[in-house]
Amino acid sequence: MQNKVIINQISYDLEGLLQNCWRRLVNGAVVAKNAFHSPSIATMNGDFPEIRTVILRKVLPEEKTLIFYTDYRSPKIEQIKANHKIAWLFYDEKARIQLRLKTIATIHHNNEVVLTRWNESRLESKTCYLVQPAPSTKTESPTDGLAAHFDRSHLTAESVALGYENFAVITNVVTEIEWLFLAREGHRRAKFILDQDGVKKYWLIP
Ligand SMILES: Cc1cc2nc3c(=O)[nH]c(=O)nc-3n(C[C@H](O)[C@H](O)[C@H](O)COP(=O)(O)O)c2cc1C
Repeated sequence: MQNKVIINQISYDLEGLLQNCWRRLVNGAVVAKNAFHSPSIATMNGDFPEIRTVILRKVLPEEKTLIFYTDYRSPKIEQIKANHKIAWLFYDEKARIQLRLKTIATIHHNNEVVLTRWNESRLESKTCYLVQPAPSTKTESPTDGLAAHFDRSHLTAESVALGYENFAVITNVVTEIEWLFLAREGHRRAKFILDQDGVKKYWLIP
């Protein structure tokens, strides 16, 4: 039986497919227009899941790690503290590939990891962390949460510096990757379980 799958005329076995998944994830983080740049992540809020879009900031295949940023005051932080498990959803419509990942999160706040990422971030991105009061607070009127006198058109390192205390970096170690490829000649699906002992790889019925 043919134990490979052909994508864009390239033949992959399960190991090659896993490498291809990591390559797609790395590209997603690096290329802003890539379909994998803005996945959905789900956390548990008590007994109900919450799902939202985040920007995939960095992927470190050797460490099996995905990184996103968030506001330390946002509700998802409390959810992650209560339950470190996060589910991720990626879909590349052009490639017709969906990835579903399971990860274990670590929250970084006010430490070396965070400082490095903060220093690498653009001034405009840093303004997200200046909102007052905290994200998700109810307001009387629609507002971006920035002070009335805040000048968006002349950002400086000083004008955004206070955002640092709200800036959190979430590192996520991948424990499972599920790959689905939609093809006219028949869909294909595979699953990878990652643990200390290595990777278990399976084909699944789509
Ligand atoms: C394209 C896009 C990118 C986003 N990127 C992020 C992000 O990187 N980090 C983040 O915390 N929220 C991001 N958001 C906002 C979240 O989807 C969400 O609305 C917000 O974080 C509140 O989530 P929470 O209430 O569950 O904490 C993004 C939204 C969109 C539409």
